[in-house]
Amino acid sequence: MKIVVIGATGTIGGAVAGLLATGHEVVPASRRGPVRVDLTDAASIDALFAAVPDVDAVVCCAASGSLSPLDTPSDADYWRGLDGKLVGQVTLARRAAAHLRAGGSVTLTSGRFTAPTPGSTLGHLVNAGLEAFVRAAAPEMPRGIRLNAISPGWVRETCLALGMDGTAGIPAADLARAYADTIEGTAHGHVITP
Ligand SMILES: NC(=O)c1ccc[n+]([C@@H]2O[C@H](COP(=O)([O-])OP(=O)(O)OC[C@H]3O[C@@H](n4cnc5c(N)ncnc54)[C@H](OP(=O)(O)O)[C@@H]3O)[C@@H](O)[C@H]2O)c1
Repeated sequence: MKIVVIGATGTIGGAVAGLLATGHEVVPASRRGPVRVDLTDAASIDALFAAVPDVDAVVCCAASGSLSPLDTPSDADYWRGLDGKLVGQVTLARRAAAHLRAGGSVTLTSGRFTAPTPGSTLGHLVNAGLEAFVRAAAPEMPRGIRLNAISPGWVRETCLALGMDGTAGIPAADLARAYADTIEGTAHGHVITP
C-alpha cells in the first residue's frame, strides 16, 4: 500500500512510519517535511493530495496545541489546540474521502487521560469530539474507505522525555503495531485503545 503518515517525525509517527515501511510505501509528511502539510491549513491538505496521488491510506499522528488551563485569559489561546488536532483531522478525513483509492483507510489519533489533569479540559473535549466524529462519519465514507481512530494513553518515550515514570506508558513500538493492524485490517468506525 501507499501510505501517507502525517507527523512522521514525531514520537508516535516515527514509530508508525518505521513499522509500516517494512511492508509498504510510506510517504512521511509534516509541517517541516519531507512532504509538507499543516493540519491547521486546509489548502495545504489539498496540496498534499494533489502532490501525492494514488494513496491507499492516510494516518495522522500529528500533534498540535498544548494544555490550555481553563482560566487561560485569551479565548484564542484557549481554543488554539482545536485547530490542528480536531478541525485539522476532520478536514483531513473529509479530503481523504475524496482522494483515497477505493477500499483505502483513514486512521486518526485521539488520546486518553487517566484523570482530569489540570489544563486538560480542551484535550478531553478534542479527544471526545474526534472519537464521536469517527463513529458517526464512518457510515458516510464512500467507496469502501474505512475510518478509525487510535486513542493512546501515555507513551513511554514521552513520559521519559518529560522526566516522568515511564513504566506505565506504552512503548511507541507497541503502539505502532496497533496503527499497522488497523490499517492492514478491516476495522471501520472503531476507536482503538491499545
Ligand atoms: N505522546 C503521548 O504520550 C501521547 C499520548 C496520547 C495521545 N497522543 C497524541 O498523539 C499525537 C502525536 O503525539 P506525539 O507525542 O507523537 O507528538 P510529537 O512527538 O510532538 O510529534 C508531532 C508530529 O506532528 C507534526 N506536526 C505538529 N503540528 C503539525 C501540524 N499542524 N500539521 C502537520 N504536522 C504537524 C510534527 O512535525 P512538524 O513539527 O514538522 O510539523 C511531528 O512530526 C498527538 O495528537 C498527541 O496528542 C500522544
